[in-house]
Amino acid sequence: MEVLLSRSQIADAVARIGQEITRDFAGESVMLLGVLKGACLFLSDLARQIELDATFDFIAVRSYGTQKESAGEVQLIKDVTSPLEHKNVILVEDILDTGFTMTFLKKIVLAHQPRAFKIAALLDKPSRRKQPIEADYVGFKIPDEFVVGYGLDYAEKYRNLPDICVLPRDTE
Ligand code: IMP
Ligand code: MG
Repeated sequence: MEVLLSRSQIADAVARIGQEITRDFAGESVMLLGVLKGACLFLSDLARQIELDATFDFIAVRSYGTQKESAGEVQLIKDVTSPLEHKNVILVEDILDTGFTMTFLKKIVLAHQPRAFKIAALLDKPSRRKQPIEADYVGFKIPDEFVVGYGLDYAEKYRNLPDICVLPRDTE
């Protein structure tokens, strides 16, 4: 597969986002809320680039649709396990595509009345957006291609690729 973003480009972007978060929340602590399963690798690398007290939690969703596209219906399959009230919550996601998932999760998190709420998305496909939502921290804006690797899957495969690659368009 064609490499779109190499492991060293990814590492540089993750370090830059870590510095941004460290600067924005200087003197405070943050809670990294990872969206399973895609954001696992990003969260684990990002956490080590944040020079603040940080805690982790995870949330999981299922979105209906095809393997490559969300149909806009999102279901919560694992809720948070720790209180978010008064916390600086940073939702950590692999990719912001149509925006349905993030819009759904933002509502859930805000209902817990956190002190601050930010979104960190490693990848952003702005041309595909169907909901008006943006990330506060973005690694890369990418064109409308389906990508895999570094946590991102196609039918649960390729999450463990160290680079982010373009899935060939004719993949069944
Ligand atoms: P959204 O709800 O359309 O913004 O989709 C977000 C979710 O769709 C992500 O968390 C991914 O699981 C999945 N997704 C969107 N684009 C891609 C891609 O290019 N590769 C792999 N998964 C993707
Ligand atoms: Mg997926």
